[in-house]
Amino acid sequence: MIIDGKQIAKELRVKITDKVSTLDRKPGLAVILVGDDPASAVYVRNKDNACKEVGFYSEKINKPANITQAELLSEVDRLNHDDKIDGILVQLPLPSHLDTNQVVEAINPSKDVDGFHSENIGKLMQNRAFLRPCTPKGVMTLLQITGIDLAGKNCVVVGASNIVGRPMAIELLNASATVTICNSKTKNLSDKIKQADVLVVAVGRPKMIQGNWIKEGATVIDVGINRLDNGKLVGDVDFDATKDKVAWITPVPGGVGPMTIATLLENTLMAYENKI
Ligand code: GUN
Repeated sequence: MIIDGKQIAKELRVKITDKVSTLDRKPGLAVILVGDDPASAVYVRNKDNACKEVGFYSEKINKPANITQAELLSEVDRLNHDDKIDGILVQLPLPSHLDTNQVVEAINPSKDVDGFHSENIGKLMQNRAFLRPCTPKGVMTLLQITGIDLAGKNCVVVGASNIVGRPMAIELLNASATVTICNSKTKNLSDKIKQADVLVVAVGRPKMIQGNWIKEGATVIDVGINRLDNGKLVGDVDFDATKDKVAWITPVPGGVGPMTIATLLENTLMAYENKI
């Protein structure tokens, strides 16, 4: 069966909209975009629109690609002290002359709605999470709504990035799963994948995971969003070769993608509620 991320995200946004209508101050999100990478510009516009739709206050801040580290840090500091702003998100990747880690660490952890600050990652690691990275948290919401009991399940995460793979593995561990984390050097990847009751793939390579690698009755979460030369969007998993043998699978588009933004809104509301 298909996990309808688009619909689940919509229901989450409706819940947030209802909650916001009861508040006397709007939760506020600031999104900083440095440079003019077209994909990042689309993501930032979608985040800004989603904020407006649920009734949040939203600031979209565009900075030129040649901004200095000091100027960017000073912008983050300004937002740290702005009472209208509950959440700060710096869209990644940043241009290579900037120190991403220093920028992320400069965000007040209570406003770190991406959950990337070492304090928030540390809390997640210790299973006492506050703000959690949006994509992995959104995947956990999908798994929860689908009703899959993760305790003791073999979960395989393919990809070990700070944004998705690593926090995803910790989320699954926190749900008492047995977790295998694969990376670009993993040997016999297909053998690891064949063991998976739950497979989460976040690699960014179109159709890299073949249908015959996947265990019958597994649950497959495809985080990849890849645009083919013909303009079509596909995931990291060969969907057509997989869909008939699995219990559950997320489509691309319409699976994990919409959940990431809905979860960002959820985190912003959480940061707001934590402040009052
Ligand atoms: N770039 C790709 N995914 C993300 C994300 O979740 N947050 C931010 N800030 N940048 C990203």
